[in-house]
Amino acid sequence: MSAVRRIALVGLPGSGKSTIARLIAQRLGWDAVDIDDEIAKTSGRSPASIITADGEAAFRDLELITLEQVLRRPGPLVIACGGGLITQAAARRLLTGLATVVWLDAADDLLIGRVGDGADRPMLGRSVAAAIPQLRGTRARAHQVAHLRVSTGDAPEGVAARVIAATDGAIRINLAERAYHVEVRPGALDDVVLHLPGGATRVALLADRAVRPATERLVASLRSSGIATTVFQVPGGEQLKTWATAGRLLARLGTAGLQRNDCVVALGGGTVGDVAGFVAATYLRGIAWVNVPTTLLAMVDSGIGGKTGVNLTRGKNLAGAIWQPRAVICDPEVLATQDDRSFRSAFAEIVKYSMIVDTSLVGDLDGNLDRLLRRESDALTAAIRESCAIKAAIVSGDEREAGNRAVLNYGHTVGHALEAAAGFGDRLLHGEAVAVGMRAAGALSVQVLGCPPGDIAWQDEMIGRCGLATTTVFDPGRVLDHMRADKKAVGDRLGWVLLEARGRPRTGVPVPEHAVAGALDAVLAR
Ligand SMILES: NC(=O)c1ccc[n+]([C@@H]2O[C@H](COP(=O)([O-])OP(=O)(O)OC[C@H]3O[C@@H](n4cnc5c(N)ncnc54)[C@H](O)[C@@H]3O)[C@@H](O)[C@H]2O)c1
Repeated sequence: MSAVRRIALVGLPGSGKSTIARLIAQRLGWDAVDIDDEIAKTSGRSPASIITADGEAAFRDLELITLEQVLRRPGPLVIACGGGLITQAAARRLLTGLATVVWLDAADDLLIGRVGDGADRPMLGRSVAAAIPQLRGTRARAHQVAHLRVSTGDAPEGVAARVIAATDGAIRINLAERAYHVEVRPGALDDVVLHLPGGATRVALLADRAVRPATERLVASLRSSGIATTVFQVPGGEQLKTWATAGRLLARLGTAGLQRNDCVVALGGGTVGDVAGFVAATYLRGIAWVNVPTTLLAMVDSGIGGKTGVNLTRGKNLAGAIWQPRAVICDPEVLATQDDRSFRSAFAEIVKYSMIVDTSLVGDLDGNLDRLLRRESDALTAAIRESCAIKAAIVSGDEREAGNRAVLNYGHTVGHALEAAAGFGDRLLHGEAVAVGMRAAGALSVQVLGCPPGDIAWQDEMIGRCGLATTTVFDPGRVLDHMRADKKAVGDRLGWVLLEARGRPRTGVPVPEHAVAGALDAVLAR
């Protein structure tokens, strides 16, 4: 996980890569590098003369070496790539792995007009008017690796501003197969179109009925960009996450004519995201999806990590796939309509992050909790960003939960048992259950690992101030029964995520059953 510090601009001749790179760099105070200029500087010859004299292959080798050198430079950079650079597989790997790749695009006639007679561009041959559409065809697949596609039909200043807005404060999640972005920004909803795959012409939008105004806004922005959008409005909530719903949606994607290059967009809470991601993972053996979470829980937790799926009769999330989205777009403004109870319940996960890693969230919670609970935009944006960054960092290092990702389960051992005891309904929301679980895990951390009691007192105070874990009336014996069914949780072998101190979690800590019973007794009112 990292912040965006390298932006690489790719696109057809005439798309404005050099001008826009300079403008972005000026506005951000970064360096701008033009790969063609670098080649000219080091070789003493222009790219046109190298291609004419030595041939295209020799020039492409030079381009690749130059790109490698540029990417090794320290400090933030905007890189204007030569139009053909992206056609090399090695260049695509370097660019997508180390930079945010932005495809600048405009209509062919506009590009043709900007290029003029193409005198200094040997790749265009004799007829610019014929060459541009042809290059669009041959480079189409290469351009699709871009993280963002930005239209350059208007003034360069506007284009630069759009690129900056879409990358400002964005978090990159670096995974083996592809890096992707998490954008957290008021107004980001209007920029979802930038994150669609380059070749997408159709979108299936799975939208929660509870967010109708946001749905209308998103549909309008997709359609105005020429994307054929089919909307499936669904009732959010656990009842959505069924095998039958996923099957129906898969059939409807086929009817809507979605092809391999197209995209599913999820607009809703965690339930909509889980189903939409699962449908995207299985349709045509996997197509792209963009997640636009609309609840605080989905923004800070479920939206990131690529876990998708549905429930089975035997339990929650038992069928699914790990299928990473192309991007996660969090617009804190859409939270204005979320009901207070479910909004507050997400704070269990935010408090959890501040207990399992060393983070600035601690200060945010201490100083800004009232502003956060009042949903003030700047405070929320900062807290969501930091939460996403924490989850992204943990997930990037351990996509399939083989190791460190388990720390995210702090508070979840008791939490899951409580949810099961409550019947997975409205009686106890996930976050409310986790908050109780964290109080139990906190007490055990003091007892078993000698965690400073002050650290846990801080955690419990935050949970209390969020209005969580205050009215939980459950029989500890029943909760223990549910935990016994989960062999990992109780007993003297595998088990718990506990804290040596705030920010220092340990996984797999064995806890004797009598200690678990004692902790439950302490946190569950009778
Ligand atoms: N994939 C993962 O890694 C992961 C992680 C944690 C939780 N989850 C899953 O997430 C789900 C819970 O997510 P959730 O809490 O977002 O629940 P949810 O999707 O059920 O949303 C809660 C309620 O809020 C409504 N809603 C959504 N956005 C709204 C808005 N902006 N304004 C008004 N109402 C709105 C929904 O219609 C629903 O009634 C569970 O199914 C859980 O298993 C998944």
